[in-house]
Amino acid sequence: MNNEHLFIKALKGEKVDRPPVWMMRQAGRYLPEYIELRNKYDFFTRVQTPELACEITLQPVDIIGVDAAILFSDILVIPQAMGVEVQLLEHKGPFLPRTITSQKDVDALIIGDVAVASLEYVYKAIKLIKKELNNRVPLIGFAGAPFTILCYLVEGKGSKNFDMAKQFCFSQSKLAHQLLNKITDITIAYLNEQVNAGVDVIQVFDSWSGLLGPNEFNEFALPYLNKISDSLSARVPVILYPKGSWYALKELSNSSAAAIGIDWCITPKFARELTQHKKTLQGNFDPCKLLLPIPQIQKEVKEMIDSFGVNKYIVNLGHGILPNIPVENAKAFVDAVKNYTSL
Ligand code: CP3
Repeated sequence: MNNEHLFIKALKGEKVDRPPVWMMRQAGRYLPEYIELRNKYDFFTRVQTPELACEITLQPVDIIGVDAAILFSDILVIPQAMGVEVQLLEHKGPFLPRTITSQKDVDALIIGDVAVASLEYVYKAIKLIKKELNNRVPLIGFAGAPFTILCYLVEGKGSKNFDMAKQFCFSQSKLAHQLLNKITDITIAYLNEQVNAGVDVIQVFDSWSGLLGPNEFNEFALPYLNKISDSLSARVPVILYPKGSWYALKELSNSSAAAIGIDWCITPKFARELTQHKKTLQGNFDPCKLLLPIPQIQKEVKEMIDSFGVNKYIVNLGHGILPNIPVENAKAFVDAVKNYTSL
């Protein structure tokens, strides 16, 4: 198994010479090649056309040289599969004209085979990407975590606090759990289809879980993250990324996931302490630091790897790359990892 990819080795906790590196949102607006396609096709056309999704997925592999590809898609295809309209507004982000707030709304959501089959274009894209990648690097499939998907379904748009979504959970908790269970079931079926189509690893994005306190995280986020991880982990390594929920790291280190993604609000040392080296950790470079001069990026990357240690570690940003990052800085970040030595 010596020719196994670095990324898979790190997920399995096997010894490596340097950690693997990829960047959340690596297929996106900082790349001129992406902007070119963005000017020609609207967002969901890019997502739903396997040839376009394939081309965009491969861009950061070819241009930046990352050690893993991530499927070009979006977490909001799950609401769409459930029968909820999702628009992506220029400069505003996602917009769901009809939100889910009542028992009637929850009951009307489509789940099961019909919903999973409506995402056929994703499975087609995965098969095409695997063929084009030709085993150069592994492919990551993904979905949003149930709590984060609930946030968009209830709030109907991005929000600083997601106060309506949180109020919904706190004041109608029985209904919230019904909704979370429905999202969890379709997400598990969807991710299994992604694995059938060929993805090598799954990442679950809980982008808004950090808006919850520890008790509420344990009630509204953790059980569903665990259920997804338990259902997929026997097939492929699972990475759980609950942004902001550093307080849950101890609990998450007992999960079935292979790795936990963390943001920059916790030190590598404390994250290792909380997870006691039981899990591979992924993160946690502040994406804003990619705006620093390149020598400073190189210095910060080296310090970060020194602190996490080379093994059981995947270099990544703490959240998605920003549109204003110069391509050469993104490349310098990746090269700094590839050139890493502990000396
Ligand atoms: O990581 C990758 O390169 C793969 C593709 C990917 C996208 N979205 C493409 C995208 C992934 C993994 C996502 C996940 C996603 N989508 C999350 C979780 C990760 C995170 O950043 O917290 C969330 C919360 C969404 C919802 C979403 N989609 C938002 C809030 C937005 C608009 C704001 C933004 O960040 O651009 C989108 C649109 C979106 N999804 C774009 C891309 C490249 C930008 C579309 C464009 O302008 O071209």
